[in-house]
Amino acid sequence: MSAAIFSADWLQQREPFDAAARDHAAGGLQLQRRLAELRPPNARPWRVIDLACGTGANLRWLAPRLGGAQQWLVVDHDAALLRCWPERLADAGGVPAGPDTALDVPISFTGTGFEATVVRQQLDLMAGLETLPWHAADLVTASALLDLVGTAWLHRLVAASAASGVALLMSLTVDGRPIWTPEDPMDATVGALFGEHQRGDKGLGPALGPGAVAVLQSALVAAGYRVFSATSDWWLDGRESPQARALQCSLIDGIGGAAGEQSRSNAARVRAWQQRRLSMAHETQLRVGHLDLLALPP
Ligand SMILES: C[S@@+](CC[C@H](N)C(=O)[O-])C[C@H]1O[C@@H](n2cnc3c(N)ncnc32)[C@H](O)[C@@H]1O
Repeated sequence: MSAAIFSADWLQQREPFDAAARDHAAGGLQLQRRLAELRPPNARPWRVIDLACGTGANLRWLAPRLGGAQQWLVVDHDAALLRCWPERLADAGGVPAGPDTALDVPISFTGTGFEATVVRQQLDLMAGLETLPWHAADLVTASALLDLVGTAWLHRLVAASAASGVALLMSLTVDGRPIWTPEDPMDATVGALFGEHQRGDKGLGPALGPGAVAVLQSALVAAGYRVFSATSDWWLDGRESPQARALQCSLIDGIGGAAGEQSRSNAARVRAWQQRRLSMAHETQLRVGHLDLLALPP
């Protein structure tokens, strides 16, 4: 098993593309209208739990859409990512409580139409998923997490959600549809090796990778949830922006590294694919398929 480590730089690089993808999915999910149905009564603050929160991209996208007063509990096993929160919220125009980055100091994050208090908790979600205050939450959310988790963990997630009757919003799960234009003859081989690597154990059970949304969806339906999903694809056009080109290059490095690790006998061919892809990034369009899922309790 290799634990999933994500750098703050990588999370920052992907955040604008995540946000654009989620804007697109929000229409398909009718998210604004359905979130309004969940609004807590009597102007009570929203209580939201963000699983595997990284440096806060999920909150930065969702808080303005929830609106009003909000109390967030944000959870990750990586203390270094949790320590980035005050700076990252300040960069996003928020008002951190102060320069103290100690994890037990709550942070305030205020923007147009919302005011959030954020409590950070370092927690391994394999060991501690059920210890979270599920019954107090109005919404449990995660972004870019589910492809890392296994079937048993997803069933624990559904059991905890159903026992407390809480809604779920799970965003940006990869669905295995990378589409490169123009194509390269090695795309399919590299994609298949990368897919095998993705299904390794990252600390939350043998990962489902692109299969996670289907497994979660059927478990939620069996538990009586109303489930909605919509595509939240990244569109990375290397001809259009240096940022899209840079993210493509990071992906080429990551996909190639994982594919080469997966099959030593193909390592040289994978390296050659990487080099061709990097040199073509300025003229390549890459679509990376993701799904967003919203589940409303019975
Ligand atoms: C792809 S990042 C997504 C971060 C954030 N949600 C975002 O959208 O930017 C996956 C996150 O899962 C966290 N993670 C992975 N395994 C975990 C575990 N066992 N317990 C808690 N967090 C975990 C990582 O530290 C990382 O922050």
